[in-house]
Amino acid sequence: MIQEAFDKIYGTAPDVIARSPGRVNLIGEHTDYNDGFVLPAAIDRTIAFGARRRKDNVVHVYSIDFQDETEFSLDAIERDDQHGWSNYLRGVLKFLQEDGHRLAGVDVAFGGNVPREAGLSSSAAVEVGAVALSMKLFNIELDPLEVVRLARRAENEFVNVPCGIMDQFVCALGKRDHALFLDCRDLTYRHVPLSGRVKIVVCDSGVRRALAASEYEIRLQQCRQAVAQLGTTGLAAKSLREVDLTDLEVARHTLSEVLLKRARHVVSENGRVLKAVQDLEKGDLDSFGKLMIASHESLRDDYEVSCRELDVLVELALRQPGVLGARMTGAGFGGCTVNLVQAGAAQPFVEAVKEGYHKATGLNAEVYVCEASDGALADA
Ligand code: GLA
Repeated sequence: MIQEAFDKIYGTAPDVIARSPGRVNLIGEHTDYNDGFVLPAAIDRTIAFGARRRKDNVVHVYSIDFQDETEFSLDAIERDDQHGWSNYLRGVLKFLQEDGHRLAGVDVAFGGNVPREAGLSSSAAVEVGAVALSMKLFNIELDPLEVVRLARRAENEFVNVPCGIMDQFVCALGKRDHALFLDCRDLTYRHVPLSGRVKIVVCDSGVRRALAASEYEIRLQQCRQAVAQLGTTGLAAKSLREVDLTDLEVARHTLSEVLLKRARHVVSENGRVLKAVQDLEKGDLDSFGKLMIASHESLRDDYEVSCRELDVLVELALRQPGVLGARMTGAGFGGCTVNLVQAGAAQPFVEAVKEGYHKATGLNAEVYVCEASDGALADA
């Protein structure tokens, strides 16, 4: 498909193609920037790139999704907020050059079916896909962690979104039929097999995450503040990863109500991820589902990043037959829920949630039955 699209735009075949999936996080929300644990999976929704070398120093980019194009010189890569969709690629190319890699002009086209601003990491998919594309185009060798770090740096320092490392990590290193268990402190990871007995179903609330950016930054600061204040009680922790619920209980008088709630979410969520990985490895999907439900409650009540539509989707899901767990996924304030549904119950679930959500909110939900898929580097 990307070959055809490229041909239509540029009138010739691409020299190279690359692709990256989006992701859904099964559990471990708002833990990555606290050095904690996460358990996401790459999904079968991807962004694909085609590119052809040029003889000059110009990068011409076409967005198939926006049907828009722009170009820039490799000599001066700047942000372009008129073509905001191009900034992910610009950031990647800029930092590759800064790291000493030699690039050259190219014609690029990209697009795909990862919904935007839905909490399924379409931006990480573009960044990781752009790194994978550049490696092929310019014969650059990077180890997987360098790919992940570069893609994240584009998001943090060029697009200026202060995200953690989870999204780029799993878009690059996800594995078919597996979730990825990642320790965000030392970046060790392992793939955990997902059972064929269940489906991962993603429900997109259609609510776009207007508040997400500013509230995300506030949560990040609150977590840092909580660590600093816990330090005044003699608890020498570098991050909330190093704190447990007993520490919080002992030191609770030093934290404001809000900081206590934020810290309690992160600390309890880390515990849930560890338990969820054990459950998955033992095949105890009922217990896994219960942890998802507890995660949602904690995100809603303690971390306060849910919204009415996400809560409606979760409540609705939990009333359907064959549903083991449901929770909001991603940064929050809109976007998607993730649901663990018995394979045979998935199709009726899709219909029931769409109908019930429309009745309750007047909005239309998109519902996707997802397959855990390979990350962008799987064939590298
Ligand atoms: C966004 C960020 C991730 C992570 C999640 C919340 O998706 O990009 O790094 O912090 O929110 O878990």
